[in-house]
Amino acid sequence: MRSIRYQVACSLDGYIADMAGKTGWIVDEPRIDFSALFDQFDTLLMGRLTYEGLARDADGFWGKTVLVFSHTLRQQDHPQVTIVSEDAQARLQEMRLLPGKDIWLFGGGELFQSLLALGCVDTVEPAIIPVLLGGGRPLLPAPAVQRMLTLTSHRVYPSGIVWLEYAVQPQPSAPGA
Ligand SMILES: NC(=O)c1ccc[n+]([C@@H]2O[C@H](COP(=O)([O-])OP(=O)(O)OC[C@H]3O[C@@H](n4cnc5c(N)ncnc54)[C@H](OP(=O)(O)O)[C@@H]3O)[C@@H](O)[C@H]2O)c1
Repeated sequence: MRSIRYQVACSLDGYIADMAGKTGWIVDEPRIDFSALFDQFDTLLMGRLTYEGLARDADGFWGKTVLVFSHTLRQQDHPQVTIVSEDAQARLQEMRLLPGKDIWLFGGGELFQSLLALGCVDTVEPAIIPVLLGGGRPLLPAPAVQRMLTLTSHRVYPSGIVWLEYAVQPQPSAPGA
């Protein structure tokens, strides 16, 4: 089954964008092979705000299939992507069972918050950037569900980036359920 992986650059104090919504604080790290990273995925999941930020910059979204989660965007205005406004859990479960590469939960935090609550996130993979932003868009905005994680990998880079990979532990079923 394909995994849904929240892979994101994050400040040490837990933000994925600064107070202006920007990510210029992400330091360069030549040892990270971005092309190998992108090659692990064929599908990207984005919240509306992430999509709107990228739609101005990204050239065709690197050839990936893109699902944008939004209750306000209209499909006919965004023919280059698929807008998902309802039944997120069922849609993603269906996608997980189809053949293909892993699915990149590209961001942002609000989408992560909602998909985590739906049990639709398999791994959390923050690249911790050596910066304190003091505020901004959180990795996981409150209020969110609580989940235990299992550390599956970590890498430390000369730039000071620490790349962590955690598996989201299955939610224990309620007694008697
Ligand atoms: N550091 C990184 O690697 C990284 C990666 C990606 C993004 N970012 C940054 O993150 C910021 C955006 O993140 P964010 O947390 O503020 O917003 P976001 O998650 O990108 O977008 C939030 C919007 O997504 C829609 N949404 C979320 N969950 C949904 C669901 N289950 N069903 C339908 N629609 C859903 C809603 O749109 P509607 O209001 O239209 O309903 C919501 O307002 C940007 O500044 C971006 O630059 C950073």
